[in-house]
Amino acid sequence: MRAFVVTVGSDEVDLASDVLWQLGVRAIEERQEPGGVDRVELWTAVGDEPDAVARAVERLGDRWPTRVVEVVDDTADTWREFARPMWVDEGSVVVPAWQDHVVGDGVVAIFIEPGGAFGLGDHPTTLLSLRAARRHLGVGREVLDVGCGTGVIAIMAARLGGGSVRAVDVASSAVEATSANAIRNGVADRIAVDTTPVGDLDGTYDLVVANILAPTLVELADDLRRLTASEGRLVISGILADRHDHVVAALAPMLVERTDVLDGWAAVTLAHPSSV
Ligand SMILES: C[S@@+](CC[C@H](N)C(=O)[O-])C[C@H]1O[C@@H](n2cnc3c(N)ncnc32)[C@H](O)[C@@H]1O
Repeated sequence: MRAFVVTVGSDEVDLASDVLWQLGVRAIEERQEPGGVDRVELWTAVGDEPDAVARAVERLGDRWPTRVVEVVDDTADTWREFARPMWVDEGSVVVPAWQDHVVGDGVVAIFIEPGGAFGLGDHPTTLLSLRAARRHLGVGREVLDVGCGTGVIAIMAARLGGGSVRAVDVASSAVEATSANAIRNGVADRIAVDTTPVGDLDGTYDLVVANILAPTLVELADDLRRLTASEGRLVISGILADRHDHVVAALAPMLVERTDVLDGWAAVTLAHPSSV
């Protein structure tokens, strides 16, 4: 397994960590740069796909130096011991697939193995997205999950009554993880997942969820608006609570129906003007 290491000034740790989280990393370890003063190394993993590092470097721009280091797999996997079930609300929970977890009647539990993808359910943006999506799921509703990662949102949507669910991601590791998790949770027949670019998707969806970095949301804004049914809802997350006005502006004339905030992150639910 390869570690992706970003060297940042100690006053830029939060900013760089936010960018890394949105690239889909599962954990970030802060280490003092050897011999460095006021500089910190952020150690993380971006997946083993050949283009994953290139994508990460592109997203980070030339602001911070990066390097790739080969690491031993068993040390890279210690995060698994610390993973815990994450409750979306009192009726639904995301459980790490390698843990036994018994839930009471009426509780929907989904089991997620991240593989090389993002989305165990424990990042604030995933929880916010799941909670916002839950308000708009209903029997037969068509759902689109843009940037599905492990498929945690698509799978919860399918389990909570979504009709058919379409999921896409630029990363083939995410498509593999979503497919495997859909089988694991018994909803593979209701989730179609692949790497189709968002611009090539047709039709409209009752609920579109996109938990992706803000610049990508801005790039995809026209398509996200087009793909949201006239009475549907669009949930965006992956945006900072105090820095997302430009993303909402790119989605105009869609209107903000609701904003939810957790740990400095936001999820915004939008609707077409005709349906509010
Ligand atoms: C923050 S993760 C979200 C994963 C999961 N949906 C969740 O909420 O936990 C963002 C995902 O978006 C994917 N992504 C980034 N740019 C994309 C694009 N233009 N189209 C589709 N997926 C994209 C990444 O590969 C990553 O899996």
